[in-house]
Amino acid sequence: MAVIAVLGYGTVGSGVVEVMNTNRELIQSKAEQPVDIKYVLDLRDFPGDPIQNMITHNYDDILNDPEVEVVVEVMGGVDPAYSFVKSALQSGKSVCTSNKELVAAHGAELMRIAKENNVNFLFEASVGGGIPIIRPINRSITSDRIEAVTGILNGTTNYMLTKMDTEGLDYEDVLKDAQAKGYAERNPAADVEGYDACRKIAILASLATEKTVSYEDIYTEGITNISTTDMLYAQKLGGIIKLLGKAGFEDGRVWARVAPAVVSSDNPLSMVSDVFNAILLKGNMLGDVMFYGRGAGKLPTASAVVSDIVDAVRHRNINLGIKWSEEKQELMDIDDVKVSKLVRVEYAQKDSAIAAVGNIFAAKDIIELEGAEDEFAFVTKKASESEINSRLEELLNTDGINGILNTIRMEG
Ligand code: HSE
Repeated sequence: MAVIAVLGYGTVGSGVVEVMNTNRELIQSKAEQPVDIKYVLDLRDFPGDPIQNMITHNYDDILNDPEVEVVVEVMGGVDPAYSFVKSALQSGKSVCTSNKELVAAHGAELMRIAKENNVNFLFEASVGGGIPIIRPINRSITSDRIEAVTGILNGTTNYMLTKMDTEGLDYEDVLKDAQAKGYAERNPAADVEGYDACRKIAILASLATEKTVSYEDIYTEGITNISTTDMLYAQKLGGIIKLLGKAGFEDGRVWARVAPAVVSSDNPLSMVSDVFNAILLKGNMLGDVMFYGRGAGKLPTASAVVSDIVDAVRHRNINLGIKWSEEKQELMDIDDVKVSKLVRVEYAQKDSAIAAVGNIFAAKDIIELEGAEDEFAFVTKKASESEINSRLEELLNTDGINGILNTIRMEG
């Protein structure tokens, strides 16, 4: 028998209890033994809820109980989750977590401590919610060099961008809608400024490089500057705007960024709508493989957490050896990464503005929108971000140009 404790009875914690109850026999069969929850740690009481007789307000009850074999950390945030998880691993208990902040900030250290104690630190739910992606990278895609990881990693922003695209709604209205539906994080900046996706791409890039990619080093741009007019330009180009977390691994150099991009309609990520997430991996032998599903929500996330519990129980006293060291992975300067960009230009004099775009960017195709006055757009050739920025500077200083209204990266 395996005894577990759940830290946090919020959305994911109550989902873990629900998954364990609903699929009790199946989980027992997969784990090859009964799996029982003994404690639920929460500051609150839940009178009338069957969970109440498992509630403890004191973490030491769990830490000091030798029967507890697996600690499930679904509290979120770095503190006190980090100290709870660290002490559990040091006491010889495996830990399963959905907490991307914790994994992105301390993952390598916690994996080392797990290894030293012959237990496991597992985090399938920390990226892509219910989508299996951590286990496939660690245990399935082991014969390939990963060349790129590109993901729609945040359900809230994908829901918002989908609504803006299909219903023509403004950013502010779709944000309110996402909040009313409970999709947005407590602090919506985590979603809309790209911080949540940044932690997730840091985790994926760390697994791909087997070193630590610090989330602080990742260039991160959210969706707050995306308007319905941008959406219309993207549509005219046959694409759709998505918030992408992307990491590239080429010639020993690594780069990563989170930013909105115009995704072309022949890219499978363009079909990922609403709160769904997807991760597209490119292996040097395998080619493209995409993982798609529900990236957030109570039961999908809990399903991934419980799959880790089953793995931990089945690998009692065996460290699964996830390759992610504490050595820092240096990233390329984002200015050196090559991109192509959609550029929206506001003009004072159209003909001279078009001529300037032709001279400076060698761009001939001008995109115009009906109803969008005094502006047009064009797509740059692929060049380093710094080269594109200096040409934009030059464009701005040209007669006939009033301003650059927005620039959005293109994703083939
Ligand atoms: N707020 C996150 C999202 C939750 O929208 O994807 C899952 O990390």
